[in-house]
Amino acid sequence: MVSVAIDGPAGAGKSTLARRLAAELGYIYVDTGAMFRTIGLYALRAGKDPKDNEAVNALLPEISLKFAFIGGEQHIYLNGEDVSTAIRTEEVGMAASAVGANPEVRAFLLGMQRDMAKTQDVLMDGRDIGTVVLPDATVKIFLTASPEARATRRWKEYQQKGVEVSYEEVLADVRQRDYQDTHRAAAPLRQADDAQLLDTSEMNFEQSLEAMKKMIVEKV
Ligand code: C5P
Repeated sequence: MVSVAIDGPAGAGKSTLARRLAAELGYIYVDTGAMFRTIGLYALRAGKDPKDNEAVNALLPEISLKFAFIGGEQHIYLNGEDVSTAIRTEEVGMAASAVGANPEVRAFLLGMQRDMAKTQDVLMDGRDIGTVVLPDATVKIFLTASPEARATRRWKEYQQKGVEVSYEEVLADVRQRDYQDTHRAAAPLRQADDAQLLDTSEMNFEQSLEAMKKMIVEKV
């Protein structure tokens, strides 16, 4: 089985690029951030503080996650409800980052993530795919860009969707999420020793896509 691990900070363009690459290469795209977001969403809906590990751990037995690939897109179901759209808010992103620091949440999702890579060619994106989830991945890419470049892209996406949020707010969230993701004890965000670094601060989407494709095709 071929596995491509793509890690990097929030807003580096991982999921958009990974989705396109997976479609072009015929791999299944696995968005692990969506799993953490779904747990974050569940905690928020239950009125729990996503940072409260004990409270979140108590919810885990109530949570059933399922995936369906429809037209090459990963849809995620929380206890039968398609939450693929509901998880795409700034609030849920922050909650995901909080539950991502919880070792029990990580253990809960790890088996599921590994199983997905056992039976199919996957392109998996996240924070710890190359370091923890798939240490033997065929290709590892660490995708990054400056906080300002990432905040600008995120803010433009929100503008297109009609979400009212200022650039400063998005930049502050990007910085806070970077801090949380790199400073936590459980599987912090870091580049695997054998991962190839790609900084897309000065690249557009097509250039980033070509650079990644080259990295993958060279190794597969
Ligand atoms: O990638 P995305 O922004 O959807 O991820 C949301 C949050 O989930 C991240 O900020 C990160 O804290 C957490 N996450 C993680 N490990 C992963 C994927 C996401 O901790 N493999």
